[in-house]
Amino acid sequence: RDEPVVLGIETSCDETGVGIVRGHTMLANAIASSVEQHARFGGVVPEVASRAHLEAMAPTVERALERAGLRLADIDAIAVTAGPGLSGALLVGVAAAKAYSLGLGVPLYGVNHLAAHVAVDQLEHGALPKPCIAMLVSGGHSSLLLVPDVAREVVSLGSTVDDAAGEAFDKVARVLGLPFPGGPHIDRVARDGSGAAIAFPRGKYDDGTLDFSFSGLKTAVARWVEAREKTGESIHVPDVAASFQEAVVDVLTRKALRACAEYGVGDLLIGGGVAANSRLRAMAQERCEAAGVRLRVPSPGLCTDNGAMVAALGSDLVAAGVEPSPLDIPADSSLPV
Ligand code: KG4
Ligand code: ZN
Repeated sequence: RDEPVVLGIETSCDETGVGIVRGHTMLANAIASSVEQHARFGGVVPEVASRAHLEAMAPTVERALERAGLRLADIDAIAVTAGPGLSGALLVGVAAAKAYSLGLGVPLYGVNHLAAHVAVDQLEHGALPKPCIAMLVSGGHSSLLLVPDVAREVVSLGSTVDDAAGEAFDKVARVLGLPFPGGPHIDRVARDGSGAAIAFPRGKYDDGTLDFSFSGLKTAVARWVEAREKTGESIHVPDVAASFQEAVVDVLTRKALRACAEYGVGDLLIGGGVAANSRLRAMAQERCEAAGVRLRVPSPGLCTDNGAMVAALGSDLVAAGVEPSPLDIPADSSLPV
């Protein structure tokens, strides 16, 4: 058991995550979330998130160590999300990681949040096939990536030109009077509705690119609801939720499989918070089977932001012999993959 023990810190949005792994074995994944403090604003408030990270940082590290049955002295390397994300939020994690690295005399690895969403799958499903296509869909990003080697090379193939997929879920949920964050509520409500009830627009469906667009769809749903509210016509919320969800999921799975076909890649990984969506999981499974593509989706708890994903990527960087980051590594809110 001489694989290094890596502690990963994630603070790019509203989750303070601290994970501990040994190789690809997850030893702990402690999370403190400030999501409830943002609910009444209908979205994440950066200043509130930063303060919450500051308060939660040390206790969450303690909790992770306790769960792993380890002490700080057992940690061989520190990994931290250096970007992309909210700058103030990232800064708290990066500063903490530097302090632990310097204090413990162990190397520091600043990692990319998107690559970490990809790397996490290995904790459940073993080493990633090289190459694979990854689709990351969350409140902050919607990206298609070509991943020749998650530790060394991740190539962006496309991303959203406006709203992220999760952002669209959250905004439409708001229109339908569902609480924030709305994705899981739409998922639940949609089970009692029909995805074929209303034909909502599918942005960039056949445009030949690997980019996404969800703001037109979001606006179309809002207009549809407003028009009926004006006339007093009743709305069947489950049908609206299901039809909206169907439009998002149809575009996502179509583009993901287009990427696999274009690059001749037989393995697709889906991650990020929206990958918890039951309809997305089902349609991806169906379409991948039809196309002869193998599908990997982490369990929902590892799809949303967490520290284990950062530790998993850190572990790959150590194994690949990648140079550690300098102690003055910046938090970079728009860090490219
Ligand atoms: O990855 P994540 O925890 O944080 C970001 O990096 O954004 O993703 C959160 C997003 C939110 O927009 C939330 O509504 C969405 O993921 N989400 C879902 C589901 N669970 C979470 N969207 C659709 N269906 C779900 N079941
Ligand atoms: Zn994320």
